[in-house]
Amino acid sequence: MKKILITGACGQIGTELTIKLAEMYGDENIITTDIQKPPAVIREHSKFEYLNVMDTDQLAKAVVDHDIDTIFHMAAILSATGEKNPKFAYDINMQGLMNVLEVACRKRVKKLVTPSSIAVFGPDAPKQNTPNEIPLNPTTMYGVTKVAGEKLLQYYYLKFGLDTRSLRYPGIISSETAPGGGTTDYAVDFYLHAARGENYTCFVEKDTVLPFMYMADAIKALIDLANADNNRLRRRVYNVSAMALSAEEVVTSIQQYKPDFHCDYNADSRQKIADSWPDSISDKEARDEWDWSPDYDLDKMTREMLERLATK
Ligand code: SER
Repeated sequence: MKKILITGACGQIGTELTIKLAEMYGDENIITTDIQKPPAVIREHSKFEYLNVMDTDQLAKAVVDHDIDTIFHMAAILSATGEKNPKFAYDINMQGLMNVLEVACRKRVKKLVTPSSIAVFGPDAPKQNTPNEIPLNPTTMYGVTKVAGEKLLQYYYLKFGLDTRSLRYPGIISSETAPGGGTTDYAVDFYLHAARGENYTCFVEKDTVLPFMYMADAIKALIDLANADNNRLRRRVYNVSAMALSAEEVVTSIQQYKPDFHCDYNADSRQKIADSWPDSISDKEARDEWDWSPDYDLDKMTREMLERLATK
């Protein structure tokens, strides 16, 4: 990876991915793109261009202008927004990815890295330690687009030799940029509210268990997979796991440091989405094929989240 283009760079993961990649490869080698106004930190650590992934010509121009060899495609519509407007999620997630794949092939990009999600699994999947390779029957449009996206990555790898790589992220907990439109956003909201001294009403029941990961691990996973030796990779898409947490467990962890934090529960339509996903997933293949292992458990994450949010 010498010249890297990031789509959706102003999103929850894109922002912190930019900072890490800039630290590793140099600010001048990171081209960030988004349809949103970039935060100062993005301008500071990269060259930013407004770019809509639906515009293939603009995408091709950016790739050629900057002699890009690696794309991190992060622009996507998440699950809850996708259920409100399935056609919009389909358009952005499917056509956006197709545009990136086509431009990458035509302009001889070497590598394309893009996240998939635990949302590829449906209610029929085993709830505990869901394996990497099982039938994928999602019941959300977001999940449907992620499954189709995984298949496209595999197709472009086999047909055109484009080095595509993906991992199935769990809910990502982070302090720098808030997530938007995801089902797992409540876990981030707990910390944001607790840090501000506010209470919170959670939109899933307290015993709802989902897989989660701290942002530092999420970034490490994506970059480690991007840099993994292709000869060791037996697939293009990997489960990655860190912690399986109920909503109540996260709240209890926060209350150790913020005893006044109080959470009510009032489940809405997002409960159904959460219930269709696994509680925990098995990441054996990621551990075996590119040495994945997370650094953060719940308590370490809670301490770092609250420390970081206190300085904001
Ligand atoms: N965090 C995502 C969502 O909730 C799952 O990939 O939509």
